This record gives sequence, C-alpha cells and structure tokens, in this order.
Amino acid sequence: MRIVEAARELSDLSYAVKQGGQKVALVPTMGALHEGHRSLIHMAQQHGEFVIVSIFVNRLQFNNEEDFETYPVTLEDDIAICRSSGVSALYMPSSKSMYPESFATSVEVSGLTARFEGASRPGHFSGVTTVVTKLLTASAPDIAIFGQKDFQQFAVLRKLVDDLDIPTEMMMAPTIREEDGLALSSRNVRLSAESRQLAVLISQGLFHSLSLFQSGIRDRQELIEAARQTCIGEIEIDYIAIVDPQTLESVSEAHVGDVLLFAGTIDGIRLIDNIIFCA
Ligand code: PAF
Repeated sequence: MRIVEAARELSDLSYAVKQGGQKVALVPTMGALHEGHRSLIHMAQQHGEFVIVSIFVNRLQFNNEEDFETYPVTLEDDIAICRSSGVSALYMPSSKSMYPESFATSVEVSGLTARFEGASRPGHFSGVTTVVTKLLTASAPDIAIFGQKDFQQFAVLRKLVDDLDIPTEMMMAPTIREEDGLALSSRNVRLSAESRQLAVLISQGLFHSLSLFQSGIRDRQELIEAARQTCIGEIEIDYIAIVDPQTLESVSEAHVGDVLLFAGTIDGIRLIDNIIFCA
C-alpha cells in the first residue's frame, strides 16, 4: 500500500493508474476507521481496481472546537486496517498542505445545506464541500463512496459533483449497525456505558417507524411520532423529518424511497441516523 502525503503526488498516481486502464475509487474518511469504513472500502473494491482511502480530520467542518479537539484519532490502527483491507493507496495530507495560511477559497452548495445538519451546525457543509472538492480534484476518481449514515451529506455532495461537472460517479453504501441496531460512527467511542444504552433508542425509533410504514401507514406525523416516542425523555432530539431523497424537502405522505432523518444529542454527543422507507 502506497502512503501519499502530497496532493500533486496523488494526482500523478491517479493519472498513471487510469492511463494503465484501471478504475480509481476513492473512499474519503476522517480516520478512526471501523467496520462501516471497511464496508465502504469493500464496495470501492467491487467498483474500481485501484482504491484510494483518504484520512484527514477536516477542521473546517467542525462548527464546535471541542468536537474537533476530541475527535478520535487512531492513525496506526487506521493504517493497519487499510493494509489488511487491500487498499491500494492511503492519502494522508497534513493540515498545512490542505489549508496553507494563504488558503482563501470556500465551496458552497446552497439550498440542500440550509436545513437539518446545515441549520444546526453552521459552516459544517461548506467545510465538507470544500475539502471534498479538494479530495476529488487531487485524486480524480472514477467513483467516490460515502456512507448512508450521513444522508444529507451525500445529497449535498451529489449536487456539488453534478453542478461542477466533476466526472466522478457518486455511490452511497448502506449504514452498518451494531448487533442491537446502533449505527456505527467514529463518535460512538465517546459514549459512556449509560449513554451507549440510550443511543440504541435512536435506531429502535427509526425501525419502529419503518415497521408502521410497512404495515401501510403513510402519514408523516404518525411516522415521525413513532420515532419520537421511542426517544422522548432520554435523548435531546434536534430533528426528526421525512424527506424526499433528492430535494430533502419534507413530504406530507411517505413513499418508498423517502428518508426518515434523525439527529439528537446524548450527554453532549451528537448522533445522527436515518432509514430509507422500503416495502
Ligand atoms: O463523512 C466524513 O467522514 C467526512 O465528512 C468527509 C466526507 C470525509 C469529509 O471530511
């Protein structure tokens, strides 16, 4: 596995690989890799011969300094996971090379970023879209893979790639869950034993709502209420919404393919999750 630190070196590598007829697939991450990331890598390997994983804890997308300072960093383990997963190249730029002092550019997607995570975490999405634009430019991948857990992020990035004519196919990989249903997240390691027990209520609420949907209920309020009731009093709910998967506009009646979004806080730790309604 090749470890690359400079954007120019990554561009040259990607160009050479593509000249040799291989497809390049990128898995952008902030490290602290877990089974969810392994599944993204696995999906990348199914669609491209040369898989690049990037690890960069992107300060720009943290609207909260403490969240950035306490974000888990497990570089040695991450490198080992990438090696054992058969990753072709690991891109680990330094903060200085990503954002030199003279850095003055910001990439913004309007509309889709106004609500939900965008409203609760001002500046978050422009941090994400700026860094992902840089990652896509440096690695010029044929395919880029992102997790469903950050559903709004995926919708925003798909719009970015579409609007800027970036020739990368965007793919979304399903959320990987603990046995009890909790969506895997690098932030889960910060949950105390007690908070970890409460965190499972989020997926329980979402799956309760899904089972109502599957029994024929379509009314938005009823489906949202099912998820809310499971969490109420235990989790500080930020939002629960049912949205169209492309526009992220709220729907009055849920249909197959619409998404139930959830965000909440337990003991100061923000957790998000979602499910896509299916028959
Ligand atoms: O989803 C993440 O881990 C990050 O938001 C991403 C896409 C790697 C950008 O920093």
